[in-house]
Amino acid sequence: MTTAPTLFPGIAAGVNVSTVPQRSPFRYPGGKTWFVPHLRAWLESLPGRPRLFLEPFAGGGICACTVLVEGLANHVQIVELDEDVFSVWQTIFSQDAPLLAQRLTAFVMDEGTVNGALSQAPTSTLERAVQTILRNRVNRGGILAPGAGRLKAGENGRGLLSRWYPETLARRILELYRHRNRVTVIHGDGLAALEKYKDDSQTASFIDPPYTAGGKRAGSRLYAHWDIDHAELFELTAAQQGSILMTYNDAPEVRLLADAHALNYRSIAMKNTHHAELTELVIGHDLDWL
Ligand SMILES: C[S@@+](CC[C@H](N)C(=O)[O-])C[C@H]1O[C@@H](n2cnc3c(N)ncnc32)[C@H](O)[C@@H]1O
Repeated sequence: MTTAPTLFPGIAAGVNVSTVPQRSPFRYPGGKTWFVPHLRAWLESLPGRPRLFLEPFAGGGICACTVLVEGLANHVQIVELDEDVFSVWQTIFSQDAPLLAQRLTAFVMDEGTVNGALSQAPTSTLERAVQTILRNRVNRGGILAPGAGRLKAGENGRGLLSRWYPETLARRILELYRHRNRVTVIHGDGLAALEKYKDDSQTASFIDPPYTAGGKRAGSRLYAHWDIDHAELFELTAAQQGSILMTYNDAPEVRLLADAHALNYRSIAMKNTHHAELTELVIGHDLDWL
């Protein structure tokens, strides 16, 4: 078992996230764009292409989107408990996707239009998806949890416009929509999905839960749903017959849980949005490919 922080030049610490295609419509706190090169290496190390790629805590789902578009698994399943986040995924993989793309490109972004759009209770999944994407774009850090603040100055003083790229979002949505026949989207509990597929050796699961283990509270500020039973999650993860890869905050409690379930882990460097170097734990049965 390796516990010392390891740097992977050109892959983790050196990864230039601008070279990783952005396929998700979300900017997501805890987003895993920096992890995509590892994701590919892991899946390529498996004896065959997984029948199912399961992402039980989808959030911005960059890994699921990458696997889908790059054909790294036959089928992809996205599971998300948050109704707002789920509504975006459900819409993208439904016949309403072109309408969602249209709604975004037609939206004229300013303080008044955003306030108007966000002041009404959504009356359909499509409306909820539009509102969620708008909030994701105008809230600081893309945070969707209650109490999140709005962008004020934003990048280059562009305020609410600083993260508003409707044409790009529309393009990403339509690209994902093209692959809709190979995706299942579930509004529900990621733990239940892991339970369901635990005996399927052809399922590869990428598990990126809210980081609230070890008394870390950041996850509870970032997500509306953050209260995870970490011990149960480790139990289920270790029980999977298929390949698993889990990412976590590097806390002594997390290492203890991994040890208790005979899982291997490595500390790897990532970059946060402020370009500071941080480490996270990558946890799995077999990490020889890393
Ligand atoms: C760390 S984020 C995932 C980030 C994602 N990997 C990305 O690249 O954007 C964790 C996500 O899990 C969701 N979540 C929390 N509890 C859940 C549960 N029991 N089942 C499914 N999703 C859950 C949260 O709403 C949040 O979107």
